[in-house]
Amino acid sequence: MKKMAAEKAVEHVDNGMVIGLGTGSTVKYAIKKLGERVNTGLKIEGIPTSLRTKKLATELNIPLVDLNDYTKIDLTIDGADEVDSFLNLIKGGGGALTREKIIAYHSKKEIIVVDETKVVKKLGIDFPVPVEVTKFGWNATKKTLEELGCTTELRTIMDEVYITDNSNYILDCDFGKINEPESLEKEINSIPGVIENGLFIDLADEIIVGSKQGIITLEERCLQ
Ligand code: A5P
Repeated sequence: MKKMAAEKAVEHVDNGMVIGLGTGSTVKYAIKKLGERVNTGLKIEGIPTSLRTKKLATELNIPLVDLNDYTKIDLTIDGADEVDSFLNLIKGGGGALTREKIIAYHSKKEIIVVDETKVVKKLGIDFPVPVEVTKFGWNATKKTLEELGCTTELRTIMDEVYITDNSNYILDCDFGKINEPESLEKEINSIPGVIENGLFIDLADEIIVGSKQGIITLEERCLQ
């Protein structure tokens, strides 16, 4: 289902485009497909959202450029941890949320590829909101985040604290069902020490869902 959705998104890619390359196990299939097309003549330039994606794209011979050389990206393809029918998202399960959000913001079009398990009625049901925070004062930032009504966990990987590509920590913040994601996104980002959070509001233009029945496309908040 992941592969089906990811490969469908690559059909939107044309010669000459600058493409934002997302992070995660779903979008990996899209990047591999792009690599195949580049090796048979497609001319694109990619902007990776993480060091992992940069490595993969380099191995696949996809030419890469720096975001600082482009003010607009034609199309970004990325994954998500949860999507709702307003096309709002939780992202950052893979830890790349800050670069992913910067790239999504600067993209003319953002296509999200997921399998059907990621589609929820309300964000927060199955997945906490990842929040990237500075190492300095992280425990104070954690306590302030908890005052917003969540439980938090410092992300670790194999018993070591997880460090992002930007050399920060991640606090996974479990709010349960989120009724007002727009205001929560702003509230979280107003706390000093917070770099960015994984609520992506009004950034996705299209969500391609791989399901047992085939491909379903959610566009422009059509399923409200
Ligand atoms: C990376 O930081 C994330 O935002 C991913 O896009 C998201 O976690 C989806 O990953 P999977 O496709 O691996 O589920």
